[in-house]
Amino acid sequence: MIDLSGKTALVTGGSRGIGRAVSMRLAEAGASVVILDRSDWSLPEDRSCSAAIRARGGRAESRELDVADSAQVDAVIGALAAERPIDILVNNAGVLHSGTTTETTDEVWRHQFAVNVDGTFFCTRAVIRTMLAADRGGKIVNISSISGLRANPGFAAYCASKAAIVNFTRQAGIDYAAQGINVNGVAPGFVETDMTSIYGPDIRAALEGQTPNGRWATPEQIADSVLFLASPLADHICGEVLAVDGGWLVGTPVVVPTASVS
Ligand SMILES: NC(=O)c1ccc[n+]([C@@H]2O[C@H](COP(=O)([O-])OP(=O)(O)OC[C@H]3O[C@@H](n4cnc5c(N)ncnc54)[C@H](O)[C@@H]3O)[C@@H](O)[C@H]2O)c1
Repeated sequence: MIDLSGKTALVTGGSRGIGRAVSMRLAEAGASVVILDRSDWSLPEDRSCSAAIRARGGRAESRELDVADSAQVDAVIGALAAERPIDILVNNAGVLHSGTTTETTDEVWRHQFAVNVDGTFFCTRAVIRTMLAADRGGKIVNISSISGLRANPGFAAYCASKAAIVNFTRQAGIDYAAQGINVNGVAPGFVETDMTSIYGPDIRAALEGQTPNGRWATPEQIADSVLFLASPLADHICGEVLAVDGGWLVGTPVVVPTASVS
């Protein structure tokens, strides 16, 4: 049983989808969760994730944050660190733009990188500074994607942004290992969230057909792996990115006649 009582965990983009499930899991494990998002802080009480956690007896609050705004990130995380030590950061906030290289405008490329890459960097830098000052280690989990570990046709900017997160995770993972700060990542496959609700039944069936276990993940299945990497069970894991994808990266099912050749 993972016990995170006494720990403070920040979850960016924690108001819905994977971030919401991560916030719930961390709170169930006893952490005090701070949801940093464009929206949760302004949602009505019956829809906000922090209110849902509190209604279940957990500890949570929400603060407004645009992760792409460096000054805002420093101000919000600095203010939080002045109140209590930060033990866990989950960089989950992300956006998805499709398009091949020639279809991708400057604006789309910049927005993709501003949220996914700059946001992950700004929050990681700010939190690691507070962790080093507190000298009590910590855990950072970055949400990449299978699209950061393999090319995905028609998603030039998204794939590039998620690949940047993979190597940033590896780099930070070794840079702060000696200080007891574990920086690791999760690379989800296809997950049932608002982000993937744009796919119709035909595309969904095709993607399930490419996945060895034949299913999409629930947000809770991704949250379980984040919980593991945010816990003391991951104390010896540094700069690793764990695929949680039903086997998609390992091998796509291909229907070929079985045969022996000798
Ligand atoms: N859903 C999938 O199949 C899938 C697969 C692989 C990786 N991912 C990644 O998982 C993460 C969560 O995805 P999701 O499916 O839950 O998406 P989602 O769209 O449901 O949620 C994204 C969250 O990020 C927040 N956000 C966006 N821009 C922000 C900003 N500038 N500042 C602060 N918060 C911001 C949104 O408000 C929202 O709460 C993303 O990084 C995504 O790329 C998702």
